[in-house]
Amino acid sequence: MTVVVREVRPEDGEELFRIKRIAFGGPREPEPARVGDNPFWPDGFEGWWGLVAELDGRPAGFLRSRDYRQYFGGRPVPMGGLASVAVDPYARGRGVATALLDRALAGLRDAGQCISALYPSVPPLYRARGWEQTGVYERMILPMDLLAALPKPAAHRTTRPANPADLPALHTAYLGLAATLDGMLNRSTKAHDLSRIFELDIVDVVPGAEGIRGYLTAERPEGERLITYDLIADDVDTASRLLRHLASWAGILQDVSLRVVDPAVRDLLLAQPVLHDVRNHPWMLRVIDLPAAVAARGWPLAALLRPFAVDVEVVDEHAPWQAGRHRIVFDGDTVFCEPGGTGEIRLHARALGPWYAGSADTGMLRRAGLIEGDAKTAARLDALTGAPRPVRMADSF
Ligand SMILES: CC(C)(COP(=O)(O)OP(=O)(O)OC[C@H]1O[C@@H](n2cnc3c(N)ncnc32)[C@H](O)[C@@H]1OP(=O)(O)O)[C@@H](O)C(=O)NCCC(=O)NCCS
Repeated sequence: MTVVVREVRPEDGEELFRIKRIAFGGPREPEPARVGDNPFWPDGFEGWWGLVAELDGRPAGFLRSRDYRQYFGGRPVPMGGLASVAVDPYARGRGVATALLDRALAGLRDAGQCISALYPSVPPLYRARGWEQTGVYERMILPMDLLAALPKPAAHRTTRPANPADLPALHTAYLGLAATLDGMLNRSTKAHDLSRIFELDIVDVVPGAEGIRGYLTAERPEGERLITYDLIADDVDTASRLLRHLASWAGILQDVSLRVVDPAVRDLLLAQPVLHDVRNHPWMLRVIDLPAAVAARGWPLAALLRPFAVDVEVVDEHAPWQAGRHRIVFDGDTVFCEPGGTGEIRLHARALGPWYAGSADTGMLRRAGLIEGDAKTAARLDALTGAPRPVRMADSF
């Protein structure tokens, strides 16, 4: 049977709802639509594009790419977030998902999404098409006594519930942090509906003289654990106030699942016991269009370097438009990627994501069999990104 991959159509909704429900679980009946009036497409059709794989003229698989911007070097890079990859059980194991990915690579390029990220449940599937483990999405389980022992804020801070008029200020507070952390989304495209945070039980802000100093979003499900989403604080007293807010649940709840958004909170404000649990949901990255991706990100470390060029040869059979020889150039002002050069350093497709993000240095990439060539020359590529460095996202999709 041949697999035919085509663009998604609104009338596919019911069949794809069934395939996704079987793949990921969830209610048998769709929830009411949030956007538009089609319950099988609850978020409407803006902010993403999708592909359907047909077997014998019937939908058998689906994927979508969400339109995101992901910060690297302080600039938001167009990123396609692959999600909802699902194949009908009877059709699995015969290349349907792979056929969807092959077509998605061209679709990502056509959509101007010069990098692509995804949260893999099946890493080998995506590795075979050039995505590679790059960043973290972490949650820590904090016992209540740990929170209760934290110092009180030294300066007065109050909290109040947020209202819809606070949304722009909440977003500004988030962006003030996110733009400084490689891997974070800017939450500014149509793929995000910021007002949905008001579906959460707790959306509290710490007001400041101008705007807000920080905020906390969390939900209190059945059971004995509070689940936080954002804990954003621009100064230590605001952070202490929000952490005490969490500590106020002592007595009734066992612990807090804290989504790690700001590494300063995790590393410098919380006092970790010597053994503690961190749950990581790693994500993979792939470069889709190398010259466009190099042009789109910021390169703040380049300002510390002398001009140089590294000649690379990209081995990428699944994205052939970027295979072959390129020069990665820092001319003293800008970093760019132009065609040509000697191809001295060979980079396999899977090396491109971790190199671009700076999560793996070229020594790590060499030991994983993803890069070949002179180690000293290759190390210049690390100087550009500051590799190896942590790369974090605080949104799942
Ligand atoms: C994961 C899923 C999409 C794979 O679809 P598929 O059409 O069977 O995938 P393919 O036939 O193209 O598989 C290609 C490769 O992926 C890998 N792979 C596929 N399913 C796998 C699994 N469950 N575990 C480990 N590797 C797997 C294999 O390496 C396979 O290569 P092989 O055939 O040479 O062994 C499908 O099993 C599914 O819908 N699962 C439930 C939902 C899910 O997990 N989605 C992924 C979200 S990130």
